Amino acid sequence: MTTDQSETARTGTDVVLEARGVTKHFPLRRTARDLLARERRSVHAVDDVSLRLRRGTVTALVGESGSGKSTVARLLAQLHPLTSGEIRLGGTPTVAGRGRSFRRYVRRVQLIFQDPFASLNPVHTVRYHLTRALKIHGRAGSGQEELERALTDLLNRVQLTPAHQYLDKFPHELSGGQRQRVAIARALGADPQVLLADEPVSMLDVSIRLGVLNLLRDLKERLHLAILYITHDIASARYFADTTLVMYAGRIVEGGDSETVTQRPAHPYTQLLIASAPDPDRVAAEADREETGTGEPPSLIAPPAGCRFHPRCPKAMERCRTELPPRFDLADGQWAACWLYEGQGVRSYGNEDAGAKPYGTEGTAAREASR
Ligand SMILES: Nc1ncnc2c1ncn2[C@@H]1O[C@H](COP(=O)(O)OP(=O)(O)OP(=O)(O)O)[C@@H](O)[C@H]1O
Ligand SMILES: [Mg+2]
Repeated sequence: MTTDQSETARTGTDVVLEARGVTKHFPLRRTARDLLARERRSVHAVDDVSLRLRRGTVTALVGESGSGKSTVARLLAQLHPLTSGEIRLGGTPTVAGRGRSFRRYVRRVQLIFQDPFASLNPVHTVRYHLTRALKIHGRAGSGQEELERALTDLLNRVQLTPAHQYLDKFPHELSGGQRQRVAIARALGADPQVLLADEPVSMLDVSIRLGVLNLLRDLKERLHLAILYITHDIASARYFADTTLVMYAGRIVEGGDSETVTQRPAHPYTQLLIASAPDPDRVAAEADREETGTGEPPSLIAPPAGCRFHPRCPKAMERCRTELPPRFDLADGQWAACWLYEGQGVRSYGNEDAGAKPYGTEGTAAREASR
């Protein structure tokens, strides 16, 4: 039995990292008008987000620019303090803090960024980057021979072989895909349980994206990693992720297994996303496109009341303007936070699998209201 399997047996769950009702508001600098009006305005970047990342599973977080995806990743990586909510690692509420306790957290939860050029230092070689990661996390072994073996292992894991051809290269001597592989190898240097991959392939040439996604999938399977895959591209979520969560203006609006969410999207926003990313398998593409509204994402400083999508939603009803929709569970683990499903879905505040909003402020408010 591996360590992961025995931990699963001990805790009875394969959830590694969990967000419960996580909220992040960034305060804006006050203007003279705010001072006069005694207002404290903020960007509502993330509101009441709950999700669960499981061992050996890829969870996609999909949404348009500015919807709060990177903020969710940074909150899960504990790079920002939360405005409210809770992050649990291995079932235990965790605040990473600074210094040693932050390092302990980072050892288990690693973040991979969009731009490997920016995340690797141009004046240092691959050997330097990987050695540093191994040393920081106490995995460099004792002596040069063990270190060399650990370095070779890391490069083999990301399929940069033979390792000696890459170890002494500088970032500019590598292709974009190879650089991202080095960044992934560096993250693996910590021997993490969770990888938070924030648009890991969007800066790469289309022809090499698939290779890097396949590598991540291979790592998920071989190392039993829990991966959060952040993307604009809902089509890649279908291909690559087990579970898909759709985010709009700071909130998760739909979730379920990727095949269901991408083939039978329930929330009008997910339908809009899919209609704007044509998929040859989807017969009704043209019809969808005619039906779906367009428009701009809302301001997150004063987000729309009720459902945040209502100003753009072709199916908006009167109550959508004022009442925040709770989550409705549909068939097969799919759920949507949309009033359209009030009669069909079962109103719920979270189930084990899709990982939407089991806890958190308006979960409680809505629960009160539904009594
Ligand atoms: N440190 C910060 N201070 C103030 N506002 C911030 C900060 N970080 C993010 N925001 C705001 O939070 C909102 C969500 O940003 P975020 O970067 O999480 O979106 P995203 O979904 O990752 O977008 P993209 O797809 O463009 O990367 C945006 O309005 C952004 O301006
Ligand atoms: Mg982002």
